[in-house]
Amino acid sequence: MSVFSLAGKTAAITGGGSGIGRAISVEFASQGAHVHILDLSAEGAQATAQEIESAGGQVTVHAVNVTNQAEVLAVFEAIGSLDILVNNAGIAHVGNLEKTTEADLDRIYNVNVKGAYNSLFAAVPKMKSKGGGVILNLASIAALVGIPDRFAYSMSKGAIHAMTLSVAKDYLKDNIRCNSISPARVHTPFVDGFISKNYPGQEEEMFQKLSATQPIGRMAKPEEIAQLALYLCSDAASFITGVDYPIDGGFTTLNN
Ligand SMILES: NC(=O)c1ccc[n+]([C@@H]2O[C@H](COP(=O)([O-])OP(=O)(O)OC[C@H]3O[C@@H](n4cnc5c(N)ncnc54)[C@H](O)[C@@H]3O)[C@@H](O)[C@H]2O)c1
Repeated sequence: MSVFSLAGKTAAITGGGSGIGRAISVEFASQGAHVHILDLSAEGAQATAQEIESAGGQVTVHAVNVTNQAEVLAVFEAIGSLDILVNNAGIAHVGNLEKTTEADLDRIYNVNVKGAYNSLFAAVPKMKSKGGGVILNLASIAALVGIPDRFAYSMSKGAIHAMTLSVAKDYLKDNIRCNSISPARVHTPFVDGFISKNYPGQEEEMFQKLSATQPIGRMAKPEEIAQLALYLCSDAASFITGVDYPIDGGFTTLNN
């Protein structure tokens, strides 16, 4: 059996209906996990589930808004025993401090920060009672370096980084590992969405510009993020906790 095998494990993946979350869901199911997709978009989650099922994998879809604690607790209750949580659901916002309204800040906080907290709050007691588990949170290079016009988003990903350390520390004795990954730009609907919303008419130019900000010369593919996620959530990474992994084509260290 591969060291990356997730056979017999149950994984909950938020935002598994699109982009990085979809790639992680497909990858984890291909390694034998029963994948539970938690997504606001039932349509997106169903599309991922179909891809998993047609490859012979096990998957269950839960239409849920991660900002709503009662909904999240009910879903985790329905899932039952849990081995892996991937906090991936997230939304973007482009704007510096002056272009971030109170409503913008609240919206980003509610999904990116409170949403992750809600899943952690529901999942950690289950992992404790099972004798352990693995958590992976989606941070961003925006948590590590200054990115122009990402005030609220950077704030939210900095919080993810800090929550990762807090949970990793507090649950060492419970055999729960908690790490985060910090991608630079990954080509997903998330990126296409903010380009078309914020730079209408300049989509191609902005896509090329954003691609070139990775020293490696392109955006990542969601599948490349899923492979790091698999490693960190597998037993192959059994000595790794409390760490953030940039997966960024050199963005944080080679952009001088
Ligand atoms: N794409 C990138 O360049 C990039 C870079 C760094 C970090 N990230 C992070 O990776 C994660 C995934 O990004 P992506 O690019 O795959 O995004 P995406 O927009 O393609 O997918 C996000 C998914 O989350 C779901 N979602 C949004 N709000 C939700 C809510 N309230 N409740 C439940 N589900 C909800 C959406 O329905 C969607 O299926 C995010 O946390 C993002 O911040 C992305």
